[in-house]
Amino acid sequence: MNKLTLLFFSALLIPLCGLANPKKPGGEGSTRSETIDAFSLPMTNISAQDRKDFFVGKSFFRQNWIELPASVKSLEGLGPTFIARSCVACHDRDGRGRPPEVGEEFRSLLFRISKPGEGPHGGPNPVENYGDQIQNFGISNVPAEAKPQIKWIESHGTFDDGTPYTLVKPEITFKELAFGELPKDVMISPRVAQAMYGLGLLEAISDKDILANVDSNDSDQDGIKGKANYVWNQRAEKMTIGRFGWKANQPTLLQQTAGAFLGDMGINTSIFSAVNCPSVQIACLNAPKKKTAEMSDKDLNRVTKYTQLLSVPERRIVADEIEIRGQRLVQDLACIKCHVPHFRTADFFPIKELRGQEIFPYTDLLLHDMGEGLADNRQDFRASGREWRTAPLWGIGLIKKVNKHTRFLHDGRARNLEEAILWHGGEAEVAKNKYKGLSADDRNKLITYLESL
Ligand code: HEC
Ligand code: HEC
Repeated sequence: MNKLTLLFFSALLIPLCGLANPKKPGGEGSTRSETIDAFSLPMTNISAQDRKDFFVGKSFFRQNWIELPASVKSLEGLGPTFIARSCVACHDRDGRGRPPEVGEEFRSLLFRISKPGEGPHGGPNPVENYGDQIQNFGISNVPAEAKPQIKWIESHGTFDDGTPYTLVKPEITFKELAFGELPKDVMISPRVAQAMYGLGLLEAISDKDILANVDSNDSDQDGIKGKANYVWNQRAEKMTIGRFGWKANQPTLLQQTAGAFLGDMGINTSIFSAVNCPSVQIACLNAPKKKTAEMSDKDLNRVTKYTQLLSVPERRIVADEIEIRGQRLVQDLACIKCHVPHFRTADFFPIKELRGQEIFPYTDLLLHDMGEGLADNRQDFRASGREWRTAPLWGIGLIKKVNKHTRFLHDGRARNLEEAILWHGGEAEVAKNKYKGLSADDRNKLITYLESL
């Protein structure tokens, strides 16, 4: 690049930086709150009807389901096997889950399991006797599938300035397996519940804009590829781009919601109508069931709307010095090659208020090889055992406030934001090494900046 083009780009950067750091990362519907409810508010710009649906959806999201037969018909349907009794039990205050403390029961960390090879529609291949997710609980007279156990393995490293650090990684085993040992080649993917805000805006980004960042052959030779997941879309009856879940393994919020109702709570809908009982699980198969879907389409749509309309909190203001240095660092360390700051949502989307919004999620919604350290070695549609969807960074600094913890990454292994960066590898190896090379002052500034997004 010659001096003139450099000058031209620096001139461009000034307005771009202004755009890259607005007060309202979630567009017009962003809300101003730094309280414990910061993730639970509806977008400010929605219609009265949408607001009504939001609050009905919210009540379903928060209610505890109970097993059949129950005196309140609208609450029955839990199980026969399940992991939690409500959505909010895992998505605590619409925020994120975490691994259990020593001696605590598992709740917001669940286990997807499968065997090598492809299952229905090219998705994960379920494990005989258990299916594709471990069910930690059963209703009366129905056995739980297994009790997960977690052990933490420590590893050590040093920053370039000589400061040491320690990381921890979970080792998972299962006790009390009710239907025999898991096969030797079983693949296990521990995943914590993700935060719920801003998801409708991510759904409203056009396929075209997501695909614009794909670089499968690394044609610009920066070591960063980015690949879209394509997953089975139950309503469209074809493969469509995956956007939700840690591996972009769900295409829409409707399907993710219906999948959670069945997979995590045992509640069936018109989208996933089968009972969640592998054929050896006789007590599960014989448990009382409703003749019709346990949740109606109308109510499923309202819960989906709830997940679409939770607003993104406004940014927290930081000192100019941190703002300027933080912006520079996320650029110089190439964080924003994956954590893409800005999108404009599509002009066509069923919910009017989500259209044409300037949003700053800091994700490309694409899959990246994150190296051996983060690998779960379990493929999920096109995502390999080393690939994960770039996690959005908006609102991440408020997790501490809302969820009273700072556990990050897909299995919650990182105990703070810095550890999350130190686990980056594969396509992000260079970015991580650059971070390790920063001065303590710059490391602090970058973290404070991330917390303000
Ligand atoms: C047992 C814990 C648990 C329960 C209960 C649960 N979830 Fe989740 N949720 C998760 C986990 C774990 C993920 C990530 C899944 C993955 O990567 O495959 C997730 C992901 C999601 C996502 C996608 C978020 C994103 O950023 O991509 C949505 C939406 C969601 N859940 C909605 C719901 C709804 C609605 C309910 C209730 C019907 C629910 N969940 C119940 C654990 C849970
Ligand atoms: C090659 C793409 C890539 C680059 C470059 C990259 N990241 Fe990430 N980042 C990811 C992916 C993918 C995840 C999710 C990994 C997981 O959960 O296992 C992630 C997760 C994170 C998380 C945790 C988020 C959460 O919700 O738990 C933070 C914080 C983060 N990145 C910050 C950074 C910073 C800061 C940089 C630059 C120093 C950076 N990343 C560079 C792809 C990237």
